Amino acid sequence: MTAGESHGEALVACLSGVPAGLKIEQAFLDRELWRRQQGYGRGGRMKIERDTAHILSGVRHGFTMGSPISVLLENKDWKNWQESLPVEEGDANKHKRVASPRPGHADLAGALKYNFPEARYVLERASARESAARVAIGAIAKLFLGELGIHVLSHVISVGAAAIDREIPWQQIAELHGRNEVLLNCADAEAEQRMKTEVDQALKNGDSVGGVFEVVGHCVPPGLGTYAQWDERLDARLAAALMSLQAVKAVEIGSGITAAASPGSAVHDEISYAKSASFAGFTRSRNNAGGIEGGVSNGEEIRVRGYLKPISTLRRPLQSVDFATREPVKAAYERSDVCVVPAAGVAAEAMVALTLAGCGLEKFGGDSMGETVRNFRGYLEQLRGY
Ligand SMILES: Cc1cc2nc3c(=O)[nH]c(=O)nc-3n(C[C@H](O)[C@H](O)[C@H](O)COP(=O)(O)O)c2cc1C
Repeated sequence: MTAGESHGEALVACLSGVPAGLKIEQAFLDRELWRRQQGYGRGGRMKIERDTAHILSGVRHGFTMGSPISVLLENKDWKNWQESLPVEEGDANKHKRVASPRPGHADLAGALKYNFPEARYVLERASARESAARVAIGAIAKLFLGELGIHVLSHVISVGAAAIDREIPWQQIAELHGRNEVLLNCADAEAEQRMKTEVDQALKNGDSVGGVFEVVGHCVPPGLGTYAQWDERLDARLAAALMSLQAVKAVEIGSGITAAASPGSAVHDEISYAKSASFAGFTRSRNNAGGIEGGVSNGEEIRVRGYLKPISTLRRPLQSVDFATREPVKAAYERSDVCVVPAAGVAAEAMVALTLAGCGLEKFGGDSMGETVRNFRGYLEQLRGY
């Protein structure tokens, strides 16, 4: 669960169910937050803020206690908003109205739903600033998965019309993750330059640009999720987790989109056996399934993609209507990002990590990490002896 407004005092996230005894590395949480703030095409806000995760509860002496973990992320810009967005009534003349709804944002639908005369309160919560809180607790899920040897990372597949056309192996994605400078988080340098040109074009035209990221779950054992109940399927849970991110409008599992137009023989991943191979020894010639069959992880890498619509705040705004007068006007403009595909990928990693950690805890259980890891190793043993 998360709470907080984009220009409020802080964001808060709460995560319960993490077993006791998980080592929490503050530097790891902060680096994940830093990664979400990177990428070519971000707005001015990313330059004024450097997020840090202030852990309020659930962790003592560097380890989780099994109790709910709450994390606070200060909004460094709050000092400039205290008068226009106060908790108390304040001075109405200092409020910052969002007078005309932006097509593509939550402004109009939200104002109608909550019966607001303008869209300030809507964008304060609908804004993807909220995803920073998810990244903070997603980092804890990543630390948990790391104890099971599972890792989750992302990379960018396309920005606008510029795309890579080959599968990027895990090793290259891991190398990207180690970089201290992020352009568009694309593993292919030539494609990344083409992506940069797309962003430059959007910047020049007062426009915005979307794209596609891929999240990869590495070393996920077979058996997470189940076909036994529709809402317990791993693919369904991952799709909901990614779709819940602001601006994600489609989710693809493996090569799901091209698969719909291909013959079965070109899609399904043939099965072989090599005793030395990981988990139960079954291997695949390729991974079009994205590591999930029948709603269950099959032991291959989990590969899920999120398709982002372009940012809806435009420096050259689209047509809209003034909330007060109903007269035609241009949509409101407020300092904004132009391209967020790499950042959305990082937020999506958090969502995938939270989902896999949830599935892992359902399968392996445990109130302490010792118990969870012992149960996990027992299952690996069972797979080896299959
Ligand atoms: C990391 C990230 C940053 C974003 N930054 C902005 C922004 O600066 N300005 C904006 O108008 N939309 C931004 N968006 C997109 C909006 O949050 C999104 O368009 C809005 O929530 C409506 O889309 P929805 O219908 O998917 O929720 C961002 C999205 C993500 C994932």
